[in-house]
Amino acid sequence: MAAMNKQVLLASRPAGWVKESDFRIVDTPIPALGDGQVLLRNHFLSLDPYMRGRMNDVRSYAAKVEIGDVMTGETVGEVMESRNAKYKKGDAVAGRVGWQQYALSDGSDLRKIDPSVTPLSLHLGVVGMPGVTAWIGLLDIGQPKPGETVVVSAASGAVGSAVGQIAKIRGCRTIGIAGGKEKCDYVVNELGLDACIDHRSGEWAKALAEATPKGIDVYFENVGGPILDAVLTRCNPFARIPVCGLVSQYNATERYGVQNFMTVIGMRVKLQGFMVSDHMGRWGEALRQLGQWVREGKIKYRESVTQGLENAPRAFIGLLKGENFGKQIVKLT
Ligand SMILES: NC(=O)c1ccc[n+]([C@@H]2O[C@H](COP(=O)([O-])OP(=O)(O)OC[C@H]3O[C@@H](n4cnc5c(N)ncnc54)[C@H](OP(=O)(O)O)[C@@H]3O)[C@@H](O)[C@H]2O)c1
Repeated sequence: MAAMNKQVLLASRPAGWVKESDFRIVDTPIPALGDGQVLLRNHFLSLDPYMRGRMNDVRSYAAKVEIGDVMTGETVGEVMESRNAKYKKGDAVAGRVGWQQYALSDGSDLRKIDPSVTPLSLHLGVVGMPGVTAWIGLLDIGQPKPGETVVVSAASGAVGSAVGQIAKIRGCRTIGIAGGKEKCDYVVNELGLDACIDHRSGEWAKALAEATPKGIDVYFENVGGPILDAVLTRCNPFARIPVCGLVSQYNATERYGVQNFMTVIGMRVKLQGFMVSDHMGRWGEALRQLGQWVREGKIKYRESVTQGLENAPRAFIGLLKGENFGKQIVKLT
């Protein structure tokens, strides 16, 4: 019997919170390899908050997933067969090939990865897209200087944990914001940040003010909502806010309206949204430096590993609710 390929398709567009019934899992035959193509076997799938936006039927920076199509996503795996001159059997690659066990590619959505960085899953996390997002957003856009105060939200997550540690490497006083005591303890004790505010505790805004006695110079924004409002009240003149994500709003049916936006004028705050995919020229340097920091133990990481593609929808819903602890990946082999 021919080997089959398990795939997760978009079954319906969610209104508000994603449900498992918004996905459909199918088994299809692995298609035959054509000229110029490679056949990949995916070992790990990355689950990322941006995927929620791709499920919507709205104008955005990237194409939406059509109903019945394979869910969009990054994987790492190995080349099983190749009829493409750039790739040979056994190459380890990262690809944007979606939620499936096997995939055909013409190579345009693949990149070779440094096999000296192990485990392979790191190429979806701290030495992959989330790590590069942290590096570009903090260093190129936030431009922190030694001694300044940096605050990062979702601080134990894939992007946030890299941001906090890079800010410490740059000599900044660095404060994380995360959900729950366990995540906050990890941010301080394992990642080495100076303090971490539990945004699920009652007094978090007061705690943020106490932890930032000299105000805030850089806020790396991952979540939006009331946390952005509280940070704005602490911004110093000429503070920088790289706006990376607004995860608190992705499933909201009523969007949160920012109250303290006047601060942006009064404190001459520079607020800049960015997309890591607009900065491809910086990826090489970022990946080299992140790989080196991980090998030297200067950057630590943590993963939430879900076993089996069939469990990806549940894990994705958990990610949007903060149930992940570190980079959320799915092990496919
Ligand atoms: N602009 C870009 O190019 C780019 C690229 C990659 C990622 N991003 C963005 O970066 C952000 C972080 O992504 P990630 O992959 O590293 O995910 P992550 O931080 O590993 O996971 C998302 C985290 O968001 C937090 N969260 C969820 N709901 C929240 C709420 N209502 N209020 C506060 N925090 C909430 C949870 O952490 P707690 O339990 O700690 O609250 C959850 O673990 C996302 O906004 C994502 O869209 C942007």
